[in-house]
This record gives sequence, structure tokens and C-alpha cells, in this order.
Amino acid sequence: MTIENEDDLRKLRIISRIVYETLMIMRKQTKPGMTTLELDDIGRINLEKYGANSAPKVTYDFPGYTCISINEEAAHGIPSDRIIKPGDVVNIDVSAELDGYFGDTGGTFPVPPVDPRIEYLCQSTRAALKNAMKAAKAGAKVNQIGLAIEKTAKRTGFVTIRDLGSHGIGRGLHEEPHFIPNYYDKKDTRRLKEGQVITIEPFLSTGSNQTTTAADGWSLCTEAGNYSAQYEYTMVITKNKPMVLTVL
Ligand code: CO
Ligand code: CO
Repeated sequence: MTIENEDDLRKLRIISRIVYETLMIMRKQTKPGMTTLELDDIGRINLEKYGANSAPKVTYDFPGYTCISINEEAAHGIPSDRIIKPGDVVNIDVSAELDGYFGDTGGTFPVPPVDPRIEYLCQSTRAALKNAMKAAKAGAKVNQIGLAIEKTAKRTGFVTIRDLGSHGIGRGLHEEPHFIPNYYDKKDTRRLKEGQVITIEPFLSTGSNQTTTAADGWSLCTEAGNYSAQYEYTMVITKNKPMVLTVL
């Protein structure tokens, strides 16, 4: 959506703060020995506290309140009886709706002991998000986001996952501009508009550039032995740097 008035901005800020707070609480509570369902429950309780509805649940009938993806899973992992182990690379993605507005945020949080290569992967993915945000200005081509992400991945020795991407958001979880890739698409002529609400969520991997859907019908997995990272903010496009809404 494109923000039209103060009320739009106020309501987007509220739901974005709720999802970000939920992500931070879940991150803090992530401990070896617990199941991903127990972690999801912590997220559910915080969303319910505000009367917010899980976006994947209301939009896609996802079997969980948040997406929790571990190791070879890149995204859309289903909360289950899978036990979190030391050294696991845990990605948590929280999106929700309140009063007709949607916010979306996510992050990858490795459980100690952390392999230095995984730490570097996470650091590079955060740098990709930062660099993509610098390119995301009103009037700029949407493909500058993918260009910045791809450049950062190449420079740091990682690859980007090509079938996952960022997206417009606001009145729904996924809106125009649909699918903003993690790579440079020179044929993409779309331009960013002032007031437009989008997510930026780079996905970098140690070596796998695409995902396949697991037998559970939801989890998007990279090839065995690969790890990925993602960090996501919801933001408003301006003439200068984007206004991040997923903050406390
Ligand atoms: Co998300
Ligand atoms: Co998203």
C-alpha cells in the first residue's frame, strides 16, 4: 500500500512494533532443549496480548503463528516437536495483522556455539539489508534492491536465494510490488513510490541459490548441508532513507 494519511502511518507503526517486539521476545527465549512449538507459543501469547492476528495463519492458513526455520530450512518452517539444539541456526519470522494493517519482520539467530562462518553469513546478510535500504528511495528502480543484495553476497562469498524475496505490504501481507528478488533483474522496470510500504528481507546462503518445498508442504529448504540467513524490516519509502516501522 501507499500511505495516504496519518492514520495509515499510525496503525502501521502499531502492528510493526508488535511484530518486532514479538520477534525480540522469541529471540531472547530461544534455548536448546525447547521445541519450536514451545517457541511459537511464546510468539502467539505476545500477539494475543495485543489482539493481533498471525498473518500467515489468516492469509494462508499456515499451521503455526510464526514461521520457525532451522538449518537447511530457509523459510516457512512449521512450529513442531523439533527440538532446538546447540549450534542450530534458527530463523524466526513474525508477521501479523491488527485493525486491517500488516507488519512483517524476521531474523536469523544462531544458537551457541556459533560457527564463525555462520556468524559471517549473518553479518553479511545484515549488511545486505543495510545496503539495500540505501538503494530504496522514491523514484529509484525496484531492481536496485536486488542489485545491492547480490553485490553484498558476492563480495562476502555467499549466494542469494533466488526464489525468495521482499514484497509490498500494508493492507495485506503480500501486496504490490510483489516479489522483489534477491538478485538484479535488469528487465524489472518498476519504480519505488514515496509513501509505499514494503519489506526488505535479503536471503543469503552458504551455497544454495534456490529452495524446494519439503514433504510437509510448507517448509522451504535449501540443499542439505547449506545454511541461510534472513533479516527483515517493514518500512516506508521516502525521498531519502526508508522509515523503518519494525522498531521498538
Ligand atoms: Co517475514
Ligand atoms: Co516478508
